[in-house]
Amino acid sequence: MKVTIIGAGYVGLTTGVALAYLGHEVIAVDKDPAKLSLLREGKSPIHELGVESLMSLAVSRLSFTDSIPDGLGQAEVALIAVGTPPKLNGEADIGYVEQAAKELAEKLQEGQTCTVVVKSTVPIGTNRRVALVIERALAARKVKANVYLASNPEFLRESVALPDTLYPDRIVVGADRAESIAVLERLYRPILEQTFAPPKILPRPEGYGLPRLVATDPTSAEMTKYAGNAFLAIKISYINEIAGLCEKVGANVTEVARGVGLDPRIGRRFLEAGLGWGGSCFPKDTSALLAVASEYGYGMPIIKAAREVNQRQRQLVVDKLSSTLKVLRGRVISVLGLAFKANTDDVRESPAIDVIRTLVDRGAHVHAHDPVAIPNAQRELDGLDLEFLDCPYAAAEGSDALLIATEWDEYRTMDLQRVARVMKQPIIVDGRNIIDPESARSAGFTYLGVGK
Ligand code: UDX
Repeated sequence: MKVTIIGAGYVGLTTGVALAYLGHEVIAVDKDPAKLSLLREGKSPIHELGVESLMSLAVSRLSFTDSIPDGLGQAEVALIAVGTPPKLNGEADIGYVEQAAKELAEKLQEGQTCTVVVKSTVPIGTNRRVALVIERALAARKVKANVYLASNPEFLRESVALPDTLYPDRIVVGADRAESIAVLERLYRPILEQTFAPPKILPRPEGYGLPRLVATDPTSAEMTKYAGNAFLAIKISYINEIAGLCEKVGANVTEVARGVGLDPRIGRRFLEAGLGWGGSCFPKDTSALLAVASEYGYGMPIIKAAREVNQRQRQLVVDKLSSTLKVLRGRVISVLGLAFKANTDDVRESPAIDVIRTLVDRGAHVHAHDPVAIPNAQRELDGLDLEFLDCPYAAAEGSDALLIATEWDEYRTMDLQRVARVMKQPIIVDGRNIIDPESARSAGFTYLGVGK
């Protein structure tokens, strides 16, 4: 099928690359010239597993451009995957989505049939709004086209966005007309039936069954995305709340999570206690849900509490550092990990960034390290007085305490004896519970985890 994707960010780019790999002809539109020139050279602007190799495998079916082509390049499907940044009141801003819809409507031709798919995470009711924007733009041009709307939220995780796209648990499609569902079913058929040859770099997971297609109405599809992300955020905050009480009573949250997670009604995943959640989805989606609820005068105390607990986690690690060191002012603290989670260079809403700001504010000198996120963190922390080091041992050198803020494998496997030798005082606050406390203690560390 011919597909046009508007927005080549995390979602648009990975979806476009996957669809081209599956055999569709994809045109990806993005306004950022720097991003476009990288993409045209076959380079990925994001640190994401498999993007460059799949781009090279699908190069003949994938092109990048800065504006929507006339007639959308004869696309049967146009996916809108632009950003929906939070407004001051927490609500997701659909300005870019509307703009994309308008530009798209300006390029539609008389008699053309196209299914417009909203892939961005958007507030409830956006589909209807997008339909209206397109309808009005077409009417102003006196052009008649058959435009069908569908909502198709994504559930991909950063760092494994491509495997999540190729091997999803489910594909949710919300549309009022059966035709739109049928078009998306055709678009995703290679995934739904797993008929494609898995790329070497992204093999099909062992025991993977076929994904389910959940066909529903647009509003339910939009709500599914928010409800899913909020649930996961609540699950993490829940275990973090339990972790705090574990510390008080002398229980170990890792053991508790194992015991609890073996109940299939609860499940083992997303029960890792630590610094809490960040990233582009959970913070934004929980706040967007609260904003929608408040428009209706409806309280959502569980989601509100999950956000509060998440914020508190960031403060708790600072409290651990200050209660161990007594005075933070004038101390050197190494912070290992800047990305909001491992295997990505994304620092949006990263707990590490927040904690560094607090530490610097409290007068500490921070040595920061991350395997890939330093350039993004430098931009985020521009103007703040701290040092970025290119290896964890260099970051640990001369420090009074070391805080692990991201669960990178590189930190799990550190030579703890070597780290202890270069530090002024061997203290570890393990904000992600990735170091074995016994190994840390036998290397001479004072070890403080979360919920242990
Ligand atoms: C999430 C959803 O998983 C995905 O389905 C949705 O489409 C987008 O949002 P992502 O933000 O990429 O994906 O990251 P995810 O792997 O879900 O982790 C989110 C945050 O939770 C990270 O900061 C991570 O460190 C934290 N986390 C995750 C925990 O603190 N504990 C856990 O047990 C799991």
